[in-house]
Amino acid sequence: MTTTDLPRSRADLHRPRFHLTPESTWMNDPNGLVLHEGTWHAFFQNNPHGSLWDNMSWGHAVSTDLATWTALPVALPCSEQEMIFSGSVVHDAQNVSGLGTPGGSGPLLAFYTSAYSPDHPEHPGIQAQSIASSTDDGMTWEFYAGNPVLDRSSANFRDPKVLWHEESGRWVMVAVEATDYALHLFTSQDLLRWEPASVFRHPSLDGGIWECPDLVRVHERRADGTAGRESWALILSTNPGGPAGGSGTWTILGDFDGIRFTASAEPQPLDLGPDCYAAVTFSGVDGDPVVLGWMNNWAYADRTPTAPWRSAMTLPRTLLLEERPTGLALVQRLVVPEGLRTIELPPLPGPLTAAVPTAGTDAASAPSALGAAAQSLQLPALDADEPFRLRGTLAADVPHRLVLRIGADAPARELVIEVGADGALIVDRSAAHAEPFAAEHSLTAPYVPADEQAEIAVDLIVDRSCVELELDGGRAVVSAQIFPGPGAVTLRSEALD
Ligand code: FRU
Repeated sequence: MTTTDLPRSRADLHRPRFHLTPESTWMNDPNGLVLHEGTWHAFFQNNPHGSLWDNMSWGHAVSTDLATWTALPVALPCSEQEMIFSGSVVHDAQNVSGLGTPGGSGPLLAFYTSAYSPDHPEHPGIQAQSIASSTDDGMTWEFYAGNPVLDRSSANFRDPKVLWHEESGRWVMVAVEATDYALHLFTSQDLLRWEPASVFRHPSLDGGIWECPDLVRVHERRADGTAGRESWALILSTNPGGPAGGSGTWTILGDFDGIRFTASAEPQPLDLGPDCYAAVTFSGVDGDPVVLGWMNNWAYADRTPTAPWRSAMTLPRTLLLEERPTGLALVQRLVVPEGLRTIELPPLPGPLTAAVPTAGTDAASAPSALGAAAQSLQLPALDADEPFRLRGTLAADVPHRLVLRIGADAPARELVIEVGADGALIVDRSAAHAEPFAAEHSLTAPYVPADEQAEIAVDLIVDRSCVELELDGGRAVVSAQIFPGPGAVTLRSEALD
């Protein structure tokens, strides 16, 4: 059964269709993301026995289109004295680890953090890096007998991400000393023995502990699709200290020589919204990297009104580079499910003209007058129970807000996208929920368009409780959860004084 086919119940009122969710338990970070033999594997931090964080194990789901997911049994279960924290998976195609079968196509290796309990006989209270291997394409896993393979006798050493560095012909592992705000890099030839390589710190990322690092190569794309310049991007989550408060994910562009990462730019938010954490990329991808984040925030994740299941992943996004007047910058493109109902909006705010319908999409039509300062848009019949996408442009030089209203009953459930007098865009979800929710985390960080820009391109995807907004072709993405429940969707634009 796929998560999108699950029978509807009260608990499923908020369950998104295209965002990965656990069937009936708790989920946090994406783990072990790998594209292998045409199948996208998403493992994730999972409590197989409950709806709150505990008993950390790796859950498992697979997809062939990144939009529909099939739930599989727990891949790496915790034991009494060891929880299985976050990490990554690589394909050891040459079987350098020797953990594959002779003559086989090489094992998949999962690198995870063994979080040992305080009463563990050998490693009390320690976090160290361990391995599990699979010789059946990720379906079943065996814990390595030599675990842990990397131990610094530390209580906060975690989240190994392993990658292949072509130029030096070595495997690289990045992991954090979380409370020390430090990224440790290691290298290996056989994926079993790891040598310290370097340590990276960054003075301005000091808002919270460091978690879930990733180091990935990104490319500029020319108009003909070929790769232009390249850079490395360090992806790092901090809790708190996120761009919109609470936990969040940052990116830093830089150089990596196989030993040392050197930042070439200041940290930038991966996402301006409150709900994107622990984002990491899939290994095994040949083209532009594909990143997936946990669509929640440690500030309130245990209070999301969806139990027994809790948390979704963001939509996957591809990462690339774009040249800007200020230098190279990261761009993210949402991987939008095929066939998602799409409505093209006329330019906002008015004077509005009827939009010309585009093939395969619906179009919103001319407004009806609500008075000088507000215009309502005639949308094709939409219900918030069904996922949809709204695309259009907002004037950057006219202070106004676009209000998405769900249901006709009072109090209104409204999601607001506001462009202020300074041209910056924020999303306000304070009134978007049927019941009060995380009031102190209602606003996103601002998106500031370039100086000369007259309009901001918006691409809004609403998948029940999961809202994602791509701005200006991916210069920024905003992820936010809302809990409005079903209801007819209407849209209006209001001028701001
Ligand atoms: C990040 C994190 C990781 C850790 C995991 C435990 O959300 O705290 O650092 O491995 O969650 O579930």
